[in-house]
Amino acid sequence: MYQEMSYGIAIQTDSNLFQGMYINAESPTISLRTATDGDRNFLIVVGMDHRVGAKIDLENAYDNLESVAKSLYQDARVLYRWNTQDCITLDKIPYIGDFSKTMKNIYVATGYKEWGMTTSNVAANIISDKILGKKNKYEKIFTSTRINPIKNRWEFGEMLKETTNSLIINKFKIPQDKLNDVGLDEGKIIELDGHKVGVYQDQDGNVFAINPICSHLGCELSWNNLDKTWDCPCHGSRFDYRGRWLYDPAIDDLKFLE
Ligand code: FES
Repeated sequence: MYQEMSYGIAIQTDSNLFQGMYINAESPTISLRTATDGDRNFLIVVGMDHRVGAKIDLENAYDNLESVAKSLYQDARVLYRWNTQDCITLDKIPYIGDFSKTMKNIYVATGYKEWGMTTSNVAANIISDKILGKKNKYEKIFTSTRINPIKNRWEFGEMLKETTNSLIINKFKIPQDKLNDVGLDEGKIIELDGHKVGVYQDQDGNVFAINPICSHLGCELSWNNLDKTWDCPCHGSRFDYRGRWLYDPAIDDLKFLE
C-alpha cells in the first residue's frame, strides 16, 4: 500500500445549503457534503489528493477548495481546515479478512482508499461473519492475503520507482542548495559541510535542522511547506519541522541537529 493525503475545509454561508453529497469525475477529485452541529450548518469541501511526500506544489490546496466553495456560495467563510491520510492498495480494493494465512483469529481491515465510512461497514460485516463461522458472499473480493500487484502494473511500477528513489538513488545525490538558499518560511534539503541536512527557516530567521532520513526504514524525506512538516514518500510517516514524530509507521523522532 501507499499513502495519500487529502485536504478539507468547512465553510459557513448565509444562504441555504443544498442537500446531499457530490463528487466530481475529473482530477483533482473534489467532494461536497453538508454537516450540522447543533443549529450550525456547514458545507464540507474535500479533495486535492496527492501521494504523501510527493514533490509537488501544495501551497494552493486549501485555496483551490475555497474557490470551489465560493463558486457555489460567494459569501463562503472558511471556519476549519485540515488534512488527513489514507492507505491505498495497488489494485484499489481494500484488504479485509485474515491477517495472514498462518495466524488464526487475527483479522485486518485497511486500504479503504478514502471510502472508510462505507467500506468500514463492509469490513464489519465480513469480519463478524468470519468470527461467527458464517459465509459472506463478499469475502472473496476483499481477501487480504491476495498478492496480485501485477494487476496494476502502472501503480506497482510507480511505487517501486518512488521507493527506489527515496531509499537509494536520492541519498547519493548531492543537494545543489546551501544554507543561504533557504528563504524565510521555507524548507529544503541542503548540503552543509559535506552532509545532507534538512533545514527549515521560520519567518523570524530561526533555523531548524534535522537529518532528513525517515526513522522508519530510511527513505529520504520531502519538505511539505503547507504544514511545515517532513513527509516520507515510502510509507507516509510525517515529522514536524523540528523532527518530532507525528504519523506512524515510524515511531521515533528524527535526529535534530544543533
Ligand atoms: S521509510 Fe517507511 S515511512 Fe518512511
